[in-house]
Amino acid sequence: MLPIELNINGHRHHLQLDPRTALLDALRENLHLTGTKKGCDHGQCGACTVHLDGQSALACLTLAVMAQGKAITTIEGLAKGDVLHPMQAAFIKHDAFQCGYCTPGQIMAAAALLQDKHARHGSAVEIREAMSGNLCRCAAYPNIIAAIQEAQRA
Ligand code: FES
Ligand code: FES
Repeated sequence: MLPIELNINGHRHHLQLDPRTALLDALRENLHLTGTKKGCDHGQCGACTVHLDGQSALACLTLAVMAQGKAITTIEGLAKGDVLHPMQAAFIKHDAFQCGYCTPGQIMAAAALLQDKHARHGSAVEIREAMSGNLCRCAAYPNIIAAIQEAQRA
C-alpha cells in the first residue's frame, strides 16, 4: 500500500492505496464519490470521465497515483454551490438523458469541450466527433447535442 494524496473538487484526501488502483475505483470505492460511473472499465464508454487540470480524462484508465498533484474535478464538484454549471443546466433544459447512467461522463466531457477554444464554437458535426468517446445506450444523442449547443451559446 502507498500513501497517496488526491486533490478532488478543491479538497485534499489522504489515502492508502494499492499502487494499481484506478482513479475510478479510488473515487467510488474509497471516497464514495459515486457520481463518476463505471461503464466498461476499459476506456471505451466515457462514463467515467473526470477533469484533470481542466482536461477530460478517463478515470478507469488513470491510476490514482498518476493523478497526484493534479486538480481532479468530478461531477460532484462541477456546480458552484447551488448554482449549476451551464452544461448541467443545459442538459436539464434539453432533457438530455433517459436512464442517466452516462450523463455525468457526458456532462464532464462536454464541459471540457467548452474550455477548448477550437471546439468551443464547433458545428453539430464537430460536437458529435468530439463527443464520440461518450456512449449513451439510451441514444439521447440529439438532446445531448442540443444541450451542448445551448451551452456554447451561453
Ligand atoms: S468506464 Fe471508463 S471508459 Fe468506460
Ligand atoms: S441516458 Fe441512459 S445511457 Fe445515456
